[in-house]
Amino acid sequence: MAPATTAVPPAPPGTPFAIRMREVTVRYPNGVVALDRISLDIEAGEMVSVVGLSGSGKSSLIRTINALVPVTSGELEVGGHRIDGARGRELRAVRGQIGMIFQGFNLAKRTTVLNNVLVGRLSHAPWWRTMLGAYTAADRRLAFEALDRVEILPKAYQRAADLSGGQAQRVAIARALTQEPRLVLADEPVASLDPPTAHAVMGDLRRINQDLGITVLTNLHLLDLARRYGTRLIGLRAGRIVYDGDAASADDAVFEEIYGRSIGAQDVLEK
Ligand SMILES: Nc1ncnc2c1ncn2[C@@H]1O[C@H](COP(=O)(O)OP(=O)(O)OP(=O)(O)O)[C@@H](O)[C@H]1O
Ligand SMILES: [Mg+2]
Repeated sequence: MAPATTAVPPAPPGTPFAIRMREVTVRYPNGVVALDRISLDIEAGEMVSVVGLSGSGKSSLIRTINALVPVTSGELEVGGHRIDGARGRELRAVRGQIGMIFQGFNLAKRTTVLNNVLVGRLSHAPWWRTMLGAYTAADRRLAFEALDRVEILPKAYQRAADLSGGQAQRVAIARALTQEPRLVLADEPVASLDPPTAHAVMGDLRRINQDLGITVLTNLHLLDLARRYGTRLIGLRAGRIVYDGDAASADDAVFEEIYGRSIGAQDVLEK
């Protein structure tokens, strides 16, 4: 395969990632087209909410940007790195700089909060050090800073199994931060949380965006959260972008257009 060409040079160290998609289609092996010729530019440092009905392609979009799902056709660049057509080592290097946040937190329950957060350093460590499980003083400082940033430092030596859902999600955010990510992708990060906790977690994501300048893209099914915490709103329907605009000014009519149905109590956090 010819070396991948990039339209823009790779982002310099430490700067947030931009995302560039041109006519990106993702077809799963079973024939389902999850993304249908998506063209999209997300600037470095943006805070984007993605909404759409179940099955509209939100998770597929995140998994494609993170190179977990291959691009079937079209061009995808993340932080100036060409993702479509790239190979394992290159993809791992880009993926190591992308923090992922999931609905289910994905923590190792039997070990401490601190150990869970230190895992974020593994993508930066040489393989022999990850085998030894030996972290440097700098790794530990990053982990403590991240725990402090999401206000969960006092829990550092507690077992992850003993956390509430909101605390677990904040630990997952701290783990992503310890990676020193240049992009954070969050897939329904507050779907299983009560309203005050959901606001706290979304507030953390917003602070990461505003204070650290990291590009953040969050899939949400609660429209009031999408409007309040995103600066830009992208609406997906059947794998296509049907809305792309300012989040704050998106009213119910915009959401009804995206969803193709009227908006009900199940679509908002604050009933
Ligand atoms: N691994 C897969 N293999 C085959 N089809 C898949 C796979 N993952 C998702 N799909 C299909 O792709 C389409 C988009 O799914 P996706 O999970 O991206 O939607 P979503 O918007 O995240 O939905 P939800 O709100 O339910 O999480 C759906 O039709 C789904 O069934
Ligand atoms: Mg999903």
